[in-house]
Amino acid sequence: MLTVQRVSVGYGDAPAVLRDVSVTVHPGRVLALTGSSGAGKTTLLHAMAGLLRPRNGTVTVDGQELRDRDHAVEHRIVLVPQDNGLAPILTATENLQVALVASGVAAPEARQQTAAMLGRLGLSGQADQLVEELSGGQQQRTALARGLALRGGVLLATR
Ligand SMILES: Nc1ncnc2c1ncn2[C@@H]1O[C@H](COP(=O)(O)OP(=O)(O)OP(=O)(O)O)[C@@H](O)[C@H]1O
Ligand SMILES: [Mg+2]
Repeated sequence: MLTVQRVSVGYGDAPAVLRDVSVTVHPGRVLALTGSSGAGKTTLLHAMAGLLRPRNGTVTVDGQELRDRDHAVEHRIVLVPQDNGLAPILTATENLQVALVASGVAAPEARQQTAAMLGRLGLSGQADQLVEELSGGQQQRTALARGLALRGGVLLATR
C-alpha cells in the first residue's frame, strides 16, 4: 500500500505546487487523478515514485517512508512517465525486453512476456518497429505495456 500523508511539494524556492495532499493507493485498485493542466498531477506522481522529496508530509510504501527513486524501485513502484521514457531508436520489443532483463527476468521468458504484453495492448503489428516511427498513441501504449510487463506492486502512469 502506498500512502501520501499531508504532503507539500514544490520546485526550488517557488511556492509549493501541492499543499497538504493526502491519498492512499489500495492494492488491486485503480486510482484516477484528474485536474487541469499545470494543477500538479505529474508532480504528485513523481513524489509517489520517489523522484521528488516532499517539503512536508510523508510518502510511505508498506509502512516505510520513501527515501528516493532507488528505494521506490526496491518496493516495485513502476512509473510510466508523461514523455513515455522509451528509447526511440529501439523497437517496441527491444524496449520491453531490455527492461525485463534488467529487472532479472531470463531472456527466453522476457521474449515470451514481451510478445504477450504487446499483444494485449494491440501492438503485435508494431512489435519490430522503431519507437520513433510509432504514432503518439502507439508509443503511449508501448510505454504502458512496458510498465505492465514489469509487474510492479504499484504502477503509476501519467499522460
Ligand atoms: N521541474 C520543474 N521545475 C519547476 N516547476 C515545475 C517543474 N515541473 C512542473 N513545474 C510546475 O509545477 C506545476 C505543476 O506541474 P505538473 O507537471 O505537476 O502539472 P500537471 O497537472 O501534470 O499538468 P499536465 O496536465 O499539463 O501534465 C506547474 O505550474 C509547472 O509549471
Ligand atoms: Mg502532467
